[in-house]
Amino acid sequence: MGREVFNINTKSKQLKRVATKNENSNLLENYKLRENVTTDESWDFRKSNTKEFTHCYHPYPAMMIPQVARRILNDYGKKSKTLFDPFCGTGTSLVEANLVGINAIGTDINPLARLIASTKTSKIDIQVLELFLQDFINYFFSISFQIEKVKSVIIPKVKNIDFWFSKNVQQKLGVLLDYIEGINDPSIRNFFKVAFSETVRETSFVKQGEFKLVRNKNFKDSREPDVFGVMIIKLSRNKQGLVEFEKTLKNDSHASVYGFNTVSNIPKEIIKESSIDIVVTSPPYGDSKTTVAYGQYSRLSNEWLGYEEANQVDNILMGGVKRKHKHTFKSDILNDVILTIQDEDKERGRDVISFFEDYEKSINNVSKTLRKGGIACYVVGNRTVKGSSIPTDEITSQLFEENNFTHIETIIRNIPNKRMPSKNSPSNVVGVTASTMKNEYIVVCQKN
Ligand SMILES: C[S@@+](CC[C@H](N)C(=O)[O-])C[C@H]1O[C@@H](n2cnc3c(N)ncnc32)[C@H](O)[C@@H]1O
Repeated sequence: MGREVFNINTKSKQLKRVATKNENSNLLENYKLRENVTTDESWDFRKSNTKEFTHCYHPYPAMMIPQVARRILNDYGKKSKTLFDPFCGTGTSLVEANLVGINAIGTDINPLARLIASTKTSKIDIQVLELFLQDFINYFFSISFQIEKVKSVIIPKVKNIDFWFSKNVQQKLGVLLDYIEGINDPSIRNFFKVAFSETVRETSFVKQGEFKLVRNKNFKDSREPDVFGVMIIKLSRNKQGLVEFEKTLKNDSHASVYGFNTVSNIPKEIIKESSIDIVVTSPPYGDSKTTVAYGQYSRLSNEWLGYEEANQVDNILMGGVKRKHKHTFKSDILNDVILTIQDEDKERGRDVISFFEDYEKSINNVSKTLRKGGIACYVVGNRTVKGSSIPTDEITSQLFEENNFTHIETIIRNIPNKRMPSKNSPSNVVGVTASTMKNEYIVVCQKN
């Protein structure tokens, strides 16, 4: 029989209780009983504009909303000088840090995410950018009206390219890429690449609004997209965002984006031990292969941009390598929930173990980078596997406690505007879906 195990934390002791699956619906109620865990609607930001500044640049799965990072920094980061985001994605927390004068360091395994994050935090001289934009518009105007002849272009290797793009679109994307590669200023070239990546996705046969790479069934009926037009729209929107960002930016704060994997090691030459004031991050949920597929989402862009191993991203993300051995975690809640899942399905149990083994190692490494009194803030989701809800928020605070941190608070917020699929297939049975996370848990711990 399926069991759900959860703990009710008190400062001195943990009261452990075993609940049947039928009690799952009461879980949220029980969470509210835990000390320092509150549901707070003022964190929903239902009507807020999540696309201010450079946040407007490029969509991405499961982005953090800027208002959450902003409020965390306001509540806990007032005296911070350096922020670290170990799963920076498109750099939401890096942008927010820079806006309030905090330097930021981010890392992500996905090359597309790194491109977006570093471009969103790069300062570019707007007048110079405008010259490039004007040149770009002139060039494509002359091509469109055949004033200038298009030279033949090299199209990069994209797997099944004819399945994803019409010949006409391939040619035009090739012309765009050729133009971009001729830009000699690296920041401006990246600015164009970010708009190009969005153009690749929008002009392909990909079903829009999905994280997985699925072809739109009605692609034959759709009109030939206006590739240059799409690119120009993205460029001008992004320029507007950049103007706002540069106007608001405090001090000379800057961000650096890397591709190291915090599961294996955090290079000391990049981040010294005890040098970070605050970590603000949203780690993956552990379903990168089934639901929130960062690699699949980014594959076509990564390939067009010539990033190697574009196909491999989902396999190298946390939990991507399946472990066969047994593992006991330093979180008893996690050990219990794994037993429950394994009762139902050994393979799915292994998936969960593989993810959390990486997660635990990453937390151990990240913990060392924080100074005494430093804050770790993890925005997590509690996903359901085989009918069991995995309390990632409690697991996260337990794993930090094992690294000499104190749990300060957990805020439960509704997710009205985070980009998530509303259904997934937690049982992996075709046609059987369940609502995915409706709540997000903002877990705040402090280093003793
Ligand atoms: C929830 S997303 C972060 C979104 C980000 N907060 C934003 O607003 O765009 C999680 C990110 O973790 C990255 N990731 C997964 N495993 C990783 C690992 N082992 N090391 C570094 N990044 C990883 C994924 O590529 C993904 O971009």
